[in-house]
Amino acid sequence: MPSLAIVILAAGQGKRMKSALPKVLHAIGGIPMLQRVVNVAEALSPDKVAIVYGHGGETVRAAVSSNTGLVWVKQEPQLGTGHAVLQAMPYVAQTQTTLILYGDVPLIGEATLNNLVEIAAQGGVGWLTNVVSNPEGLGRVIRDASGAVMAIVEERDATPAQRAICEINTGFLACPTASLARWLPMLGNRNAQGEYYLTDILGMAVAEGIKVTTHTPKHSWEVIGINSKDQLASLERLYQQENARRLMASGVTLLDPTRLDIRGELVCETDVTVDVNVLVEGQVWLGRNVSIGANTVLKNCHIGEGTTILPFTHIDSAIIGANVRIGPYARIRPDTKLADGVHIGNFVEVKASQIGAGSKANHLSYIGDSTVGSSVNIGAGTITCNYDGANKHRTVIGDNVHIGSDVQLIAPVTINTGATIGAGTTIWKDVAAASLTVNPKTQAATPNWQRPTKKTKN
Ligand code: UD1
Ligand code: CA
Repeated sequence: MPSLAIVILAAGQGKRMKSALPKVLHAIGGIPMLQRVVNVAEALSPDKVAIVYGHGGETVRAAVSSNTGLVWVKQEPQLGTGHAVLQAMPYVAQTQTTLILYGDVPLIGEATLNNLVEIAAQGGVGWLTNVVSNPEGLGRVIRDASGAVMAIVEERDATPAQRAICEINTGFLACPTASLARWLPMLGNRNAQGEYYLTDILGMAVAEGIKVTTHTPKHSWEVIGINSKDQLASLERLYQQENARRLMASGVTLLDPTRLDIRGELVCETDVTVDVNVLVEGQVWLGRNVSIGANTVLKNCHIGEGTTILPFTHIDSAIIGANVRIGPYARIRPDTKLADGVHIGNFVEVKASQIGAGSKANHLSYIGDSTVGSSVNIGAGTITCNYDGANKHRTVIGDNVHIGSDVQLIAPVTINTGATIGAGTTIWKDVAAASLTVNPKTQAATPNWQRPTKKTKN
């Protein structure tokens, strides 16, 4: 493979975002735009990835991660796209091909970029253009009578006839590095904006007889750039539509494809059904025949086959077995593992706990820092009191334990196999296997008792 360098332009301020957060850190599908661009860059196996940054420098650097190591190049002042790429040239000099990407054009696709890289690897210039119905504000592609590309003219420098052209410059291009390094210092800034335009290298290539080949993106949304919150929201919808389309094509049933948001990655086995208003964050895996109820939030979780998640449930960082039933209105918090056949009902919160096969907590409970065996029944209103104000302690519940309603388990405590705890009991000592434990209480009654009555005001 010929060696490839990728230069990502990300120095622009993004004034129109009206935000303290640098523009390229605003997210599409939960991932900062610049991170998306870095991810697609790395998918092309480059030798170098250089990011030209300016505004919000340290914040941007801290927010972006990479597998290969990034070269950060500061551009100050910002004198145009040509000037920006020039700053990165010392870092890419040893490579054969250079590809230019943009930190605010987040959905550019790998296949589209590969087309450009292949052209440049053969000594030509690969340029991505697109035909659009409204070319306003964009550079226009000028072709000669034979259809060969001649130049790119920015809107502000264009004649009325050129402005009528609907083929626009997307900005993406790949070029032999040696040619690029030669052309960039030759750019001038005598134009309407007084900037060094990267686009002027197209004319230089043509003048040297180097072939410029254009490609169009596989999907139009790949080349949409973001300058405002409005554009960010529109692209987010396009991205989510695309996610929904892909899931349905792979066999997932979405009751309404416009009411699912994926901020991360959702992987589904066959016959998964997702009801409306579901939010997926991070990495989520759903097994065969899983059903996700309406208004559910799923974050970094693995849900086994045949499991049903009922509406308004939150699951975060948990592993859920097969044929489990959770919700409605349940909350499963990080480091929880539910074995097959577990039932977690309404208003039950589970945190950092393992619950064994077939165990049930169907109503209004808190189960935290606990190890629960199999076939355990936890009655309504049972609370593990895991926090002494300073430290958290574990509760251990053996197999076949039956806990009545409204029980407090003061940790650290162990309830051994087969034990039964009566309703309303407070447990602060370990419980023997197969025993019945209650707190003796009396029930006192006052016959014919009159409730107080409300005094009338004068
Ligand atoms: C540029 C193209 C235009 C194309 C359009 C597509 C040029 C001269 N024009 O115009 O033909 O249709 O993109 O969106 O290239 N940047 C820097 N440093 C700079 C200037 C820009 O890093 O000094 C970065 C910006 O952060 C941005 C990108 O380069 O990501 C494009 O810059 P912008 O000023 O938005 O260029 P346009 O005028 O939109
Ligand atoms: Ca722009």
